[in-house]
Amino acid sequence: MFYTLSLAALLGFASLTPALYTGQGHQDGAPSVHEVYSFPVNTSVENLAVRRTGHILANVDSAPELYQIDPFCNDAKPTLIHEFEGYGSLLGIVEVEHDQFYVAAGNFSVFTLEAVAGWWAIFHVDLSSFSARGDGSVESAAIVEKVAEIPEAELLNGLGLFSVEDGLIYAADSGSGIIYLVDVHTGDYWPAIQDPLTIKGEPLPDFASANGVHYNAATQSVYFTNIGQEVFGRVPVFANGSQAGAAEVVMQGEMCDDFLLDDAGNAIIAVYGSNDVIRVDVANGNSTVIAGNANSTELEAVTAVAWGRTARDSGSLYVSRNGGVGSVNVVGGGISRIDL
Ligand SMILES: *[C@@H]1O[C@H](CO)[C@@H](O)[C@H](O)[C@H]1NC(C)=O
Ligand SMILES: *[C@@H]1O[C@H](CO)[C@@H](O)[C@H](O)[C@H]1NC(C)=O
Ligand SMILES: *[C@@H]1O[C@H](CO)[C@@H](O)[C@H](O)[C@H]1NC(C)=O
Ligand SMILES: *[C@@H]1O[C@H](CO)[C@@H](O)[C@H](O)[C@H]1NC(C)=O
Ligand SMILES: *[C@@H]1O[C@H](CO)[C@@H](O)[C@H](O)[C@H]1NC(C)=O
Repeated sequence: MFYTLSLAALLGFASLTPALYTGQGHQDGAPSVHEVYSFPVNTSVENLAVRRTGHILANVDSAPELYQIDPFCNDAKPTLIHEFEGYGSLLGIVEVEHDQFYVAAGNFSVFTLEAVAGWWAIFHVDLSSFSARGDGSVESAAIVEKVAEIPEAELLNGLGLFSVEDGLIYAADSGSGIIYLVDVHTGDYWPAIQDPLTIKGEPLPDFASANGVHYNAATQSVYFTNIGQEVFGRVPVFANGSQAGAAEVVMQGEMCDDFLLDDAGNAIIAVYGSNDVIRVDVANGNSTVIAGNANSTELEAVTAVAWGRTARDSGSLYVSRNGGVGSVNVVGGGISRIDL
């Protein structure tokens, strides 16, 4: 994310590649989109994760708030798990071990798109003893503690798991384009990846760079998105997670936000700039639209995707939405479900 839709319309859509859109339509069997929860207008949900219980965790970046939402209850009230005092925004989220989540916190304005450099940190959110009541109130609190401060960072954005055993996560800095490795046990961190394809650049040099970041162990590579360069790419890494060679473009021309890698060699990407979710074959970069449409607010300013994790919804995708803050089409940010 991190640009206004009006600017996107001016600068970005011209470079989209409509010929790649093949999966779109309303034929029978097409994926359907369902609202799970909408916050008020100007509340932006920047990322999400799904707990093993099926509950959705929603990171808000227009406020320092982490919510839990029950997707199986039609009328569920979200539960405010934690408000991160002293911070303004939550961005990336990753689960390292069961119910042990880590989030990136800092100060970023969804209105001016400015971030406060030197004020970024990774927090541990232990949900193992957390519980909520049906009315949204907290029954038993989460345990939240800061594990690392990264004063060099300009705008910490997506997080991705590298090693459960070693407690290592990637953290992408959308300002510098550096992808850090963070040891969540010790708080140590170091730059692991920085490439001409992860830094700011054309066609939108003022916009955020490295954004989503996810490791693929089978190919020992890290996949990433870069909004400003409109790139979805990959970079080889050594066994220790550091960059082992030049990054390459997998797909170009889309303002991709966060994504997931599936078991079949595809990336499923939230395309903030065109309000849709696409599937990209990482072998050849071919992409098809799963759901959403540039001219619809149904998935307005989508920011991230995650699979359902229970028997009821394991074939469904959940997406977080910014809602188009700053655009004339603004709707409430929130969470939607796509039934494939
Ligand atoms: C959302 O934010 C914009 C920009 O600050 C403001 O003009 C608008 O009134 C806000 N909308 C609501 C519903 O609060
Ligand atoms: C970050 O934002 C919070 C919430 O608005 C504010 O209290 C804090 O002073 C800000 N910190 C910096 C360094 O800007
Ligand atoms: C990671 O491994 C590579 C190759 O063995 C080595 O050159 C590099 O120094 C290592 N990086 C770190 C941070 O340990
Ligand atoms: C996928 O990409 C390859 C190589 O670019 C191309 O030859 C092929 O036609 C594409 N397949 C589809 C289904 O679009
Ligand atoms: C959106 O609307 C414009 C103008 O009507 C049209 O040219 C374009 O093809 C539409 N895009 C999609 C993805 O439907």
